[in-house]
Amino acid sequence: MAEPAATAKGTRPEGAQTEADASRKVRAMFTEIAPRYDFLNHLLSLQLDRVWRARTARRLRPIMQRRDARVLDLCCGTGDLAFALARSGPAFVVAADFSHAMLVRANAKRAGHTGSTNSDLTVPAGFFEADALQLPFADASFDLVTTAFGFRNLANYENGLREIRRVLKPDGTLAILEFSEPPPGLAGDLYRWYCRKVLPKIGGLLSGNPNAYKYLPASVARFFRPEELASLMTQVGYGSVSYELWTLGTVALHTGTRS
Ligand SMILES: C[S@@+](CC[C@H](N)C(=O)[O-])C[C@H]1O[C@@H](n2cnc3c(N)ncnc32)[C@H](O)[C@@H]1O
Repeated sequence: MAEPAATAKGTRPEGAQTEADASRKVRAMFTEIAPRYDFLNHLLSLQLDRVWRARTARRLRPIMQRRDARVLDLCCGTGDLAFALARSGPAFVVAADFSHAMLVRANAKRAGHTGSTNSDLTVPAGFFEADALQLPFADASFDLVTTAFGFRNLANYENGLREIRRVLKPDGTLAILEFSEPPPGLAGDLYRWYCRKVLPKIGGLLSGNPNAYKYLPASVARFFRPEELASLMTQVGYGSVSYELWTLGTVALHTGTRS
């Protein structure tokens, strides 16, 4: 049974006893599903994942329009948010993930991008293998840190927020795009039925990893409610924290600045 969201310290895939276990399991799971990750993402979200990332990039456009801005997309997976951000303005974008297999795909997309060169700012400048809980970047390096559907997978949410805060410049912005449990009601109940009954079957069948697609709804159910994440961000030292709910409350975009 899912732990009440308010007590969740970090993700705990089935069988994980410690934070180190949780991280290892999360990395192994994403490494295993990496070959089919994009295909299943688009299929299972009915293409809405593209809309959510594009909308996130639009919201962050004022920062992306600044040629001097430095941006880090964390838990970047195959890079789709990093690409959407890079297309939305001339800011310098780098991205990081701890699954090598995901980064191989991100780099392949980058190489396939017509005319992409190291100086082409319409694609991310680079993808790095790094753990979001121990980033290989100096303090106050970035004007914007983003993460799409990745934050929920961290083994310790508070430490994740602190580490992101460390690499943000004063007044830098954090944007977290994550799934959220919609409130009870017809739409919410339909969503839960889809996530718990339909999605694990299709995802499991097509990815060959049923556990990964059982983990997805379980981790969303266990994750913070939007107001809880906003409150933790404030406690950790982010200011102007706010969030928007999209698509019947199934997705939330939280933003805050390093104060
Ligand atoms: C659901 S995928 C999201 C990928 C991408 N951001 C997207 O929008 O499709 C979650 C990603 O988070 C990465 N991840 C989870 N925990 C991480 C950590 N501690 N450090 C770095 N990456 C992590 C996984 O390897 C995986 O690629």
